[in-house]
Amino acid sequence: MTGLPWFDYRDGVLHAEGVNLHAIAEAVGTPAYVYSSDALTRQYRSLADAFAGIDCLIAYAMKANSNLSVLRHFGSLGAGADVVSGGELQLAMKAGIPPGKIIFAGVGKTRAEMMLGLKAGNTGIAQFNVESEAELQVLSEVASSLGVKAPVAIRINPDVDAKTHKKITTGKAENKFGISYRRASEVYALAAGLPGIEVVGVHVHIGSQLTDLAPYEDTFIRLAELVTALRAAGHNIRRVDLGGGLGIRYDDETAPDPQLYAAMVRKHILPLGIAVALEPGRFLVGNAGLLLTRVEYVKQAEEKTFLILDSGMNDLIRPAMYEAFHRIVPVKAPENGAELAPVDIVGPICETGDTFAEGRPMPPVVAGDLLAILSAGAYSSAMASTYNARPLAPEVLVHGDRFAIVRRRPSIDEMTALETMPGWFSEAQG
Ligand code: LLP
Repeated sequence: MTGLPWFDYRDGVLHAEGVNLHAIAEAVGTPAYVYSSDALTRQYRSLADAFAGIDCLIAYAMKANSNLSVLRHFGSLGAGADVVSGGELQLAMKAGIPPGKIIFAGVGKTRAEMMLGLKAGNTGIAQFNVESEAELQVLSEVASSLGVKAPVAIRINPDVDAKTHKKITTGKAENKFGISYRRASEVYALAAGLPGIEVVGVHVHIGSQLTDLAPYEDTFIRLAELVTALRAAGHNIRRVDLGGGLGIRYDDETAPDPQLYAAMVRKHILPLGIAVALEPGRFLVGNAGLLLTRVEYVKQAEEKTFLILDSGMNDLIRPAMYEAFHRIVPVKAPENGAELAPVDIVGPICETGDTFAEGRPMPPVVAGDLLAILSAGAYSSAMASTYNARPLAPEVLVHGDRFAIVRRRPSIDEMTALETMPGWFSEAQG
């Protein structure tokens, strides 16, 4: 009924693999994120299998979900990591991802972050994806100060419309990302002349949640032309980093088939005789997670019925931020033939935007029922906040009929552990 084999009903109750979600709610309380190891593995393998025979690094875009156990799981399958901050770099290393499989992206790397990347594991990371000439200069200076050269791919903005939500489109000329492909040869020439830079590749990333493969194909064609031209100009381009963006099914979209995606790479990129890197985030984790939540109240207003949940926009901001659709299903399977009625599904936070769904057809639900908000593996816990002094929801990883709390809920003392009162509060008041 969910369409996801790892989250399905057994004996009338939604399970994560072999685990009854009531058991998880009992053990950790709600709200809680629940992840399926099997789903992580299946998604990773479907991509790795599609790229079989290709020299390809799958660098998991850990911004989608940076839980250490999730990282460790992907690491054990052979994944590297795409990181966008010094913090992510340290988490990836903590989870055991080898620096030689780490790519450092991001439009605003600081000198301290560059240092971390250059020194990681003594050998440094695999690649810095550089987004501007100014950044090239700074990276060269930092690398030179350490007596090394930074391996660099320059992010090229191909000016392709990814046909996705405007807040997650990155490859249009007006976006802040990368260097225009029209100026690429100039910027590569600059890079080649810098003492602390070793040009190794070209990077593109056109957007996120792409469900149409056509924009990728346009990008790959442009990229192949560019690599040929750069090589002709004497640059040793050894790797193309194709970015992330592969979409998933949230509602009734058709998720792109990794086999068709790989076929495009075989057609347009492989004839260059070049290594490939990918930076998938959402595709690997999005549908591997759900947000388990309880209905606190059913409120009958004049014109509407509201289901008021114990999870809010601080736990899952995507509907508020991108008008994103997430399927919401009851943990207890509805009676056969149960009638659906439209309800607004909202959180407890003091904002009208704290709404998960409006006018959503739902079977009858009463206070105390558990619901599962699906497709909450990516950009959910990773974008969570403690707004309204709500603790970060715990994360649970399921494996077969076992589950483990991989991040527990913090206490109020832990939440305030970093705060101190200024000394003058305790001075005698005159
Ligand atoms: N590589 C780069 C350079 C990126 O900027 C991103 C995502 C990725 C890879 C991974 O993209 P993915 O495969 O996950 O689509 N918070 C938004 C999505 C933001 C994506 C940002 N960049 C959301 O919840 O939809």
